[in-house]
Amino acid sequence: MIKDRKISFSGIQPSGNLTLGNYLGALKNFAEFTDNYKCFYCIVDEHAITVRQVPADLRRRTYEMMALYIACGLDPDRATLYVQSHVPAHAELAWILNCFTMFGELSRMTQFKEKSARHADNINAGLFTYPSLMAADILLYQTDVVPVGIDQKQHLELTRDIAIRFNQLYPDTFTIPEPVIKKTGMKIMSLADPTKKMSKSDENENATVRILDDRDTIIRKFRRAVTDSGSGIRVSDDKPGVTNLISIYSCCTGKSTEEIEREFEGKGYGDFKLAVGEACADLLSPVQTEFYRLMKDKAYLEQMMKKGAEEASYYAQKTLFKVRRKLGFVQL
Ligand code: TYM
Repeated sequence: MIKDRKISFSGIQPSGNLTLGNYLGALKNFAEFTDNYKCFYCIVDEHAITVRQVPADLRRRTYEMMALYIACGLDPDRATLYVQSHVPAHAELAWILNCFTMFGELSRMTQFKEKSARHADNINAGLFTYPSLMAADILLYQTDVVPVGIDQKQHLELTRDIAIRFNQLYPDTFTIPEPVIKKTGMKIMSLADPTKKMSKSDENENATVRILDDRDTIIRKFRRAVTDSGSGIRVSDDKPGVTNLISIYSCCTGKSTEEIEREFEGKGYGDFKLAVGEACADLLSPVQTEFYRLMKDKAYLEQMMKKGAEEASYYAQKTLFKVRRKLGFVQL
């Protein structure tokens, strides 16, 4: 494929109420690429079913994800926003890539190990081959950059390995993608246990700030956030709670760590936590207003899903056609 612009691709699972981690680690950064890249941002519902979903919830969250993409500043005329299951090429390429992905590689994936420990009654084949579907998502669009949080780095490395292996056998098939992982925001930690990642599926509601939490809830959650013994607001390995709050404050305000340490010199945890809560609520407030406006218009969201799926299919089919030809499949 001859490209007039570099390509940015990323995806988010509609598998729970999105967190501040999803927002700061990924979503907030997506719009930055629309000026200089051709962007594809996908709602990966096929990935979501690797753990059991309540159908009505999955459907609602898929609409919500579309509304959130747009509310976060992604203009559907400038970025291709779509739902994975609307573009069957993802599942088709995933099957092909499964045949180029090793059992040992998949067994080493930390997300697989964690999820199979958490869902011990449902360690299905889809959970195991999840990374080859993710590789298919990315490689279908000849992607150059993939903005993600650090937890996806291992999957990105495997995607690159699969692409390199495929290209060695069938030259010039895939672009080799690079992850784009921002230093601040790449791993937002739980507010209840700052040694653990903030996660959609955490059962302790105080551990996670949700993108759609109202102002009072956000401020209350930060007020209750676990900090560390002693005082002092500074980044340090022995202060994981404060360090996490500093990086959240930095993402929300654009201030550097040094500026923040200076701003709160001599101040207590109470003042600091209130400032972080307020900054976070201020950042999310316009996103929420736009989200609720968009959610009233399902017809519009469906229209955008359809438009996105058509655009994505056009590019996906080109890659799939090339892959099928190279493999020796008869094309009619
Ligand atoms: P998912 O849905 O778990 O998360 C979506 C994005 O949010 C980032 N993220 C975080 N960033 C910082 N701190 C956190 N606490 C935090 N929690 C989540 C994730 O890194 C991710 O960027 N497998 C992917 C979805 C996917 C995908 C893709 C991503 C499917 N295909 C192709 C990129 C490209 C996932 O489960 O993300």
